Amino acid sequence: MTPRQEARMSINTGDRGQWSSKLGFIFAAAGSAIGLGNVWRFPYVTGLNGGAAFVFVYLICVLVIGLPYLYAELALGRAVQKDPVGSIASIKPKSAWILVGGLGIITGLFILSYYAVIAGWTFGYIFKMFVPNHLTFNEFVADPLLVISLFAVFVILTVLVVYGGVQGGIERWAKILMPVLFILMLILIIYANFLPGSGRGLAFYLEPDFSKINGQVILAALGQAFFSLSLGMGLMVTYGSYISKEDNLISSGLFVALADTVIAIMAGLIIFPALFAMNQNPEAGPGLVFNVFPAIFQQMPMGTLVGVIFFILLSIAALTSTISLLEVPTAYLVDEKGVARKLAVWLVGILVFLIGLPSALSQGAILGMSKPIAGGLEFLSLMDFVWGNISLAFGAFLLSIFVGWVWGARHASEELATGNPSFRKWSPLWGFLIRFLCPVTIFIILLNLFKIF
Ligand code: PHE
Repeated sequence: MTPRQEARMSINTGDRGQWSSKLGFIFAAAGSAIGLGNVWRFPYVTGLNGGAAFVFVYLICVLVIGLPYLYAELALGRAVQKDPVGSIASIKPKSAWILVGGLGIITGLFILSYYAVIAGWTFGYIFKMFVPNHLTFNEFVADPLLVISLFAVFVILTVLVVYGGVQGGIERWAKILMPVLFILMLILIIYANFLPGSGRGLAFYLEPDFSKINGQVILAALGQAFFSLSLGMGLMVTYGSYISKEDNLISSGLFVALADTVIAIMAGLIIFPALFAMNQNPEAGPGLVFNVFPAIFQQMPMGTLVGVIFFILLSIAALTSTISLLEVPTAYLVDEKGVARKLAVWLVGILVFLIGLPSALSQGAILGMSKPIAGGLEFLSLMDFVWGNISLAFGAFLLSIFVGWVWGARHASEELATGNPSFRKWSPLWGFLIRFLCPVTIFIILLNLFKIF
């Protein structure tokens, strides 16, 4: 059996996720990309970084760095058919590059640890819709028992899905539910933009004031692009390893990036008009969408129902992302350490829960943990900055060098052209982007860190 057939086999037996159909990869990858990053993180980071100018830089980052880099991860994954550590090790055995794969796995663990906390809030908000005035957002996240239970429920949910091989179900669900999320968001866009006073929000979101662009804004935009597209930690290497050689990596990757970007832009088209209509502050931070969405639902006809549906869909979008985050460390333990899959899933789940506890308690539940630690950020926001922004960007910096120079842009281009021969005419451009533009730009942007802290 060739490695590819083996990979397919293990997918089909539910070993690494059952993306059976040709569209399977697209749904899995889009499911990973689309999540809280689009609906929760993108609006709050946009709000903190000055609105439209940030959106402008973000879109450039997605197009010039995110998309070409996505192809690098997919090419590496499909060529070698392994988890990130295994992929790098097959190309450059016994080298320090393997540590880059290790960094990706650790980053995945840490991102999942706080991501599942926020996913837990989302899940809790389904029920909170029935008692809107029971607790404010700040009271909600400061209740230790509540947040820890919701966090635990979400980790267990993720573990059960990955463990039980319900992926076939997820694939089918995602096909139906993601379009529903899309339509619901369209309705919310229309509603929000009819609220009196919403025009100022639209201007904040869409009319860039270029003088607001500085190093910090660019760093935030770059990090958000990687976070939202699930890049920089080898996730797309892992998912790429499940793609067959006949599939077209270029068009699939393009679709994933486009869908992800559209959903993020749509989230902003709801949040900012509504936010300004209600005279709230765009710089509210991680709590932003949890304050604004319920406020919209409260005013809306049939708002409770709409709110319940919305938070169910958002929880599912988050679940397809947490599954992917859990998959990377699990695939590593299974592929490289020979741990039985079911044991590996639980081990990672428990570890994630323990690492995530301080994040869960850092929103007021334990006052000592809720104070700013560095750069004005409390624990959860700090984790999001360090792992969800810096570590992804740093990982992408190293991996783009690995693919562009160590493995070689030529090999990677060949892989990309398999399944899409017309890519060959683009390969010089892509080679330039991955060898020079990606690493150099990321490096320069990362340098700005030293000015922040
Ligand atoms: N892209 C996911 C989201 O936007 C989060 C994520 C980041 C998932 C990194 C996997 C890897 O919600």
